[in-house]
Amino acid sequence: MALNYISAAEAAGLIKHGDNIGLSGFTPAGTAKAVTAELAKIAEAEHAKGNPFQVGIFTGASTGESCDGILSRVKAIRYRAPYTTNNDFRKAVNNGEIAYNDIHLSQMAQEVRYGFMGKVDIAIIEACEVTEDGKIYLTAAGGISPTLCRLAPKIVVELNAAHSKSGMGLHDVYEPLDPPYRREIPIYKPSDRIGTPYIQVDPKKIVGVVETNWPDEARHFSEADPITEMIGQKVADFLVADLKRGIIPSTFLPLQSGVGNIANAVLGALGRDTTIPPFEMYTEVIQNAVIGLIRDGRIKFGSTCSLTVTNDCLQEVYDNMDFFRDKLVLRPSEISNNPEVVRRLGVIAMNTAIEADIYGNVNSTHIGGTKMMNGIGGSGDFTRNAYISIFTCPSEAKEGKISAIVPMVSHADHSEHSVNVIITEQGIADLRGKGPKERAQAIIENCAHPDYKNLLWDYLKLTDGKSQTPQALQAAFGMHVELAKSGDMRNTNWGQYK
Ligand code: COA
Repeated sequence: MALNYISAAEAAGLIKHGDNIGLSGFTPAGTAKAVTAELAKIAEAEHAKGNPFQVGIFTGASTGESCDGILSRVKAIRYRAPYTTNNDFRKAVNNGEIAYNDIHLSQMAQEVRYGFMGKVDIAIIEACEVTEDGKIYLTAAGGISPTLCRLAPKIVVELNAAHSKSGMGLHDVYEPLDPPYRREIPIYKPSDRIGTPYIQVDPKKIVGVVETNWPDEARHFSEADPITEMIGQKVADFLVADLKRGIIPSTFLPLQSGVGNIANAVLGALGRDTTIPPFEMYTEVIQNAVIGLIRDGRIKFGSTCSLTVTNDCLQEVYDNMDFFRDKLVLRPSEISNNPEVVRRLGVIAMNTAIEADIYGNVNSTHIGGTKMMNGIGGSGDFTRNAYISIFTCPSEAKEGKISAIVPMVSHADHSEHSVNVIITEQGIADLRGKGPKERAQAIIENCAHPDYKNLLWDYLKLTDGKSQTPQALQAAFGMHVELAKSGDMRNTNWGQYK
């Protein structure tokens, strides 16, 4: 069947007010871009005429400017799931303008299949190749595209020349059956391939192919600073010590690491430390640092959902596919982040906290307990099922006015039952094998900034000191309350709570 080439504007014209659109991609990598940019123009025009125009968006993780940015600015998003990192989207969410459903990334595809979010009206899928018999070759991310393609009655393919066709073969497309028929996911090592390199669809569902040449809208990360470097080195030191003690097998275990500078610093430090043998990644995002370490032979294999790298770095991968082909695989997010596989492989999870409390509960998503930052992303998928789950963060934020270590987190994403280790630039709190009271000692002593240590010790004096988890509930958010009042947690005076 001949493919029907249409413009991005024509494709956007297929979308109606109230539709749920399914987008390829995971982070700005691999996200369809041209049709949503045109959709924003339609929404603006309809709003100018006084007509409502809003859509729901189902995707893999964050997107780029041409989706979350443009569409939230023109108020065209009614509902969206899951993770996002866009500033304008964040403002709209915290203004109450968008229903944002922040779910674990591994669950997104299955929750769409289970019908929890309504039906998918149209899928917009970025590809580097599409064939007349309905084979869609994805670009830099797996996301939830296989599920979107299967469920949507209409598919638009954005055939993006900015992604080289040499990337064909990077993907391993696999969609599990739903209960009660689901079987084990047969991945026994990070490099196992269990699916096909393309998504097979009924070609009749492909209503249009939009040709584009639009590079991924990679996010900018600031340069590493001394604090992030110190945290990275501490994580590497911790893992080396566990390796030497035999807690981590001598062959080492696959790593998961989040996005951002701390993740880059951690990987940099692990790469430099040759006490650690060449290792593998079973992760959801691969950043530039990983590509460098694969090139240097320090990372043997990377299993990921996306190549969230700069466009130069992505081009380097495409230009050297002979080298990278057997060292990388891109998977759908429900496989890259799958709890069953993470636990089987013994993945060491490394994620970032906004704040952690003295008992080891972690807040990764909410500023001050109420305002959404980005979302939980895959941190919960990995943390809950990891061989060792590590959280890192600077010990303080906003020039010291905020302590990252608090008596009680203002929002809980990862509980004390799942968090094994907390690392700040101050030190390492190894929580494994410890009860809550011992954890509090370790976290305050090793992780809190010196400006906050005495404040936290004094908080403990307000508690009965004996209960399983000693808290003084009247004062547990005292540091947050003080921040809201004077703008500086250091001014907290426990006297008022005695
Ligand atoms: N209270 C208030 N603000 C805080 C804060 C706190 N306790 N801790 C950090 N912040 C602010 C920082 O000052 C910074 O503000 P700015 O943007 O105005 O400069 C902002 O939050 C981000 O902090 P930063 O130190 O730059 O962290 P980051 O870029 O490493 O992001 C998370 C940290 C937690 C927001 C990010 O890792 C995330 O979204 N995690 C959840 C998703 C996840 O873990 N995915 C898994 C793998 S990808």
